[in-house]
Amino acid sequence: MLNNQAGEEKRASLHGHWSSKMTFILAVTGSAVGLGNIWKFPYVAGQNGGGAFVLVYLICVVVIGMPVMMSEILIGRRGRRNPVAAMELLSKEEGSSRHWRWVGVIGVFAGILILSYYSVIAGWTLGYAVKSASGVFVGASAEAVSAEYQNFVSDWRITGFCHTLFMALTIFFVARGVERGLEQAVRFMVPALLILMLALLGYSINSGYFAQGLSFMFSVPESCMALAPECPLTWDSVLAALGQAFFTLSIGMGCIMAYGAYLPDETSITSTSSAVVIADTGIAILAGLTIFPLVFANGLDPADGPGLVFQTLPLAFGQMAGGIFFSTIFFILLSFAAWTSAIALIEPAVAWVVERFSKTRAQASLLIGILIWFIGFGSVLSFNALANMEFLAGTIFDNVNYLTDKIMLPLAGLLIILFAGWVMSRNSTADELGSTGRLYNFWRLLARFIAPIGILFVLANAIT
Ligand code: PFF
Repeated sequence: MLNNQAGEEKRASLHGHWSSKMTFILAVTGSAVGLGNIWKFPYVAGQNGGGAFVLVYLICVVVIGMPVMMSEILIGRRGRRNPVAAMELLSKEEGSSRHWRWVGVIGVFAGILILSYYSVIAGWTLGYAVKSASGVFVGASAEAVSAEYQNFVSDWRITGFCHTLFMALTIFFVARGVERGLEQAVRFMVPALLILMLALLGYSINSGYFAQGLSFMFSVPESCMALAPECPLTWDSVLAALGQAFFTLSIGMGCIMAYGAYLPDETSITSTSSAVVIADTGIAILAGLTIFPLVFANGLDPADGPGLVFQTLPLAFGQMAGGIFFSTIFFILLSFAAWTSAIALIEPAVAWVVERFSKTRAQASLLIGILIWFIGFGSVLSFNALANMEFLAGTIFDNVNYLTDKIMLPLAGLLIILFAGWVMSRNSTADELGSTGRLYNFWRLLARFIAPIGILFVLANAIT
């Protein structure tokens, strides 16, 4: 155990430590890089009009996402417990209300809800790996690929089976402990995924529509730059960008806090967070740059929604030499990326049940996993039998998305950063961040004022 600067003894983790700083970075990267980058970012950017949305998203990542991530890691590491217990313990230590633990509770439930639909889409990617291997996409037209997608999602038995398979894999590995297998999986998966994405990008560049894709993603209407009322970006889209920043970085739900609980004392929180933010944002941008040229080259609609990736990338693979092989590998890798995220999504709930109800990890994983699997059927059916059952934000899938991305994550993120900025003493946070210099002061400025005011402003404007 290390001594901190103040000379007091630090708490030991209840669940053991990551073996090295690299393992932690890999685990957090594994949680951050997933369907959020490759499936969600392009379709949400497409639905919200492209350029202006992407700009707001990038601002949210840097100004709000980064300081929230640092706050989560430092709270997790200082508390050395599951997010609910860590918030409770630290608020007691700082002489504040124990109601702060509700932030951890929101996170536990956000994780459960997010994983319920995440697993469904991860199931689609498993299904697409099998489809790719069968060769259905070879030389297929845009219409044929779209029809294949429609057929696939409209059969709830197949998508339900894929969802079940994915949840079973997740439960199995979570039951065995947080670290085993995860490190190797991420070490191999992220670079391999990156290489395949670059190959696909090469294809997109040659599609003849790269400039159009680029301009869709990065050109911001002048009215928006001038903050004029004519700017087509709505407050709801700004909230979507904020929600996407939270979602893609895995923050605002305590998962990074739960991982931080296993982080050795000497690891720099700032450099770890920067590495993760850069890798995660880079992969999302790469996915967008690959997908949008394909959308325009094939006369598809960028605002098409959750099926966008599944209707564009198979087209590119279908034209490529060795397409069957690369497409199969790509969807397997994407399932892997989803799996390392799923493990993170379920971790706060599992750690909480283990500590709070004295269950074994295996029992807790099974219990929570079955609950998530069951809720997930709401999303499975949102694309077929219950597609017409719309209320509030749309289908069950749309509502779970709305509730988590646009309400729970920003709200919990706001509370987390307020806790780190206002409730925790300067000594505690400076001790965890290992500095009192300019960088620390900048984090504190963001944590106390800029990020919370930004989140509140967006929430207030989007809701009214
Ligand atoms: N960040 C993951 C992705 O982009 O796919 C999703 C996610 C994982 C969100 C873990 C939240 C989380 F705790």
